[in-house]
Amino acid sequence: MTLGIRLDGRTALVTGGGSGLGLAMAEALHAQGAAVAVLGRTKAKLDAAERQIAAVGDGRVRSVVADVNEDDAVADALRQVQEWQGRLDIVINCAAPLLAVSPLAEADEAVVSEALNAKTVGYHRVARAALPLIEKGGTGRIINVAGMAAHVLVPNIGVAAVVNGAVVALTSYLAAEAAPHGVLVNGISPGMTLTQVWHDRHAATAKAKNITPEQVRDGMVENLGIRLGRWGRPEEIAAAALFLASDLSSYVTGQTLQVDGGLGKSVI
Ligand SMILES: NC(=O)c1ccc[n+]([C@@H]2O[C@H](COP(=O)([O-])OP(=O)(O)OC[C@H]3O[C@@H](n4cnc5c(N)ncnc54)[C@H](OP(=O)(O)O)[C@@H]3O)[C@@H](O)[C@H]2O)c1
Repeated sequence: MTLGIRLDGRTALVTGGGSGLGLAMAEALHAQGAAVAVLGRTKAKLDAAERQIAAVGDGRVRSVVADVNEDDAVADALRQVQEWQGRLDIVINCAAPLLAVSPLAEADEAVVSEALNAKTVGYHRVARAALPLIEKGGTGRIINVAGMAAHVLVPNIGVAAVVNGAVVALTSYLAAEAAPHGVLVNGISPGMTLTQVWHDRHAATAKAKNITPEQVRDGMVENLGIRLGRWGRPEEIAAAALFLASDLSSYVTGQTLQVDGGLGKSVI
């Protein structure tokens, strides 16, 4: 048996696929032959993403406007995707807002519970609704995008740590429960990866400190001790998603893969 990276004949749904990491993952999956649906709340953004993704493959791309925090919208979105191609193989959970930056002990309860609801509970809602629909013949995958905050102690990202740590736990448990059905559930924890939200943050910090955005970016690489000495690129996170979505990962489940340029400080 030869295991390959191609995804011909499979259908994927990428939440948060209208921008950033979700968009890069949707492009990577489509380039390998998958029909891809991208989900988000902003139609204009999804329309632009749809055109960009379609250009790298056979054009079987569609967008679904939905909020992952609404039960009915999620159920309807999954139904639309399954009816569109007659099957659903891969679900990537990537939809989440920018998380608060502050000392955890000073974060308002509302901020913590809002962040948990927006990301972890949203991922759970999508996974729970998707599991009964996902193909059981070996192609079924759920991939949860967590974040490096779940693994390393870095000042001021405690809210993200709580939220992403819960995503790692969600991934482990869903993997155990889905394994008897032949569905693999894994996660990815991206490190510092340059998406538009970060470009905007860098520009704002640069303005406030009267330095350049490049200085802000390079300073963070140094402060965080990123071993590869640079920020990640969205396509580098997408490469990990492609591995986890394809047959190449057929004996991997319950794992969260850190794709962070060596940011972690732990020995194991
Ligand atoms: N970039 C990094 O360095 C980094 C590092 C670690 C982890 N991550 C994680 O990676 C994921 C993507 O981050 P990103 O940098 O690519 O950010 P991004 O470009 O802002 O992508 C997030 C996407 O999610 C959508 N979204 C947000 N809330 C939603 C909701 N309630 N329902 C449906 N869609 C929703 C947004 O579109 P709408 O607003 O139009 O709905 C947006 O397209 C997040 O889970 C983030 O925590 C990123």
